[in-house]
Amino acid sequence: MKLLNQTTLGNLKLKNSLAMSAMTRSRANINGMVGDLHIQYYTQRASAGLIFTEAINISEQAIGSPFTPGIYSEEQIEAWRKVTDAVHDRGGIIVAQLWHTGRAGHSVDRKGILPVAPSAVAINGSQHFTSQGPKEYEAPQALSVEEIKQIVKDYGHAAENAMTAGFDGVELHAANGYLPNQFLADNANQRTDEYGGSIQNKTRFILEVMKELINTVGGDKVGIKLSPFHPYGDILFDNPVATFTYLIEELNKLDFSYVELMKRSPMFPVAHYPKDDEIELFGKQIKHVVIANTGYDKVTAEAELEKGIAKLVSFGTLFLANPDLPQRFEKDAPLNQPDRATMFGGGYQGYIDYPFLEEPTSILHS
Ligand SMILES: Cc1cc2nc3c(=O)[nH]c(=O)nc-3n(C[C@H](O)[C@H](O)[C@H](O)COP(=O)(O)O)c2cc1C
Repeated sequence: MKLLNQTTLGNLKLKNSLAMSAMTRSRANINGMVGDLHIQYYTQRASAGLIFTEAINISEQAIGSPFTPGIYSEEQIEAWRKVTDAVHDRGGIIVAQLWHTGRAGHSVDRKGILPVAPSAVAINGSQHFTSQGPKEYEAPQALSVEEIKQIVKDYGHAAENAMTAGFDGVELHAANGYLPNQFLADNANQRTDEYGGSIQNKTRFILEVMKELINTVGGDKVGIKLSPFHPYGDILFDNPVATFTYLIEELNKLDFSYVELMKRSPMFPVAHYPKDDEIELFGKQIKHVVIANTGYDKVTAEAELEKGIAKLVSFGTLFLANPDLPQRFEKDAPLNQPDRATMFGGGYQGYIDYPFLEEPTSILHS
């Protein structure tokens, strides 16, 4: 079956066409460093054709939530190096997802400093998970043009650091309501300068960051995750098709590796959005490799690959709960169910203790 076939992504040779999508698990230490648990977690999943890491903060300013890792200090880079070495020892491939949370954070976990965003517009309709429990979102501090230019550079530095840490590539997290998605959105971006107003201006930030990443590490090591119809984080478009069609046209002019397309979740319907399938609608417009994401199982993923638009399918929750997902697909074996209570934060439980079909030899990297 296509899903289990070897494939390529840029210069990378993947042992199957399944990726593990990025998942924040909030188990880094107070200094944003990963440790032995992360080494185990990621190496357990090294049979994926490709692993996307949890979202990684590109700078201290990028932090939105407690216990999320960073890649801007020497010790954070060293800590990630142990993870990438261990995954490579197991024959895996691992890509760092680069994260700036923008307004999706809270000052209690930012040393009292307000989050920053395109405009001073708070997230409406949900609360933020902080180290002091759920809290209402605050109106963020609107960024100056100078600060925006600095953030573009911060993405470049983080990508450089990711290479030093041994990652096989970087993915710009432009989905799920974080900073790049905030610049794009009609409700979150109220700017009247060159970063707001027209669709051209709202896409400027993402395109500048992509160019910075490509210039820093080379296009074959760069990809982007988009979620056109997913309103998570209070992200709304008057006309998402027009915005994303323009963005894709501009991305098509750049030389990089892939676009991971996250479909909407049925839990977040938006009445005025078209009902089209995102892979059909946007995937066909994309000249880069398409990675399809959200809601797939073995059967629907195979059907997606058969259509010929996507080259890979990425799985989130199924990989979280099934470290040996490719093997389970191969054997048509039953799947472990994910435990929602241990998804974010905590220790080894619900992290590295999901059972394998056959227990592997010890994987703790020494
Ligand atoms: C616990 C958890 C954490 C997540 N964190 C991230 C993240 O850091 N970055 C990201 O791009 N998506 C994140 N996601 C979304 C997943 O990568 C994926 O897009 C989503 O779960 C849909 O795929 P699935 O239906 O196969 O689970 C997260 C999902 C879960 C369940």
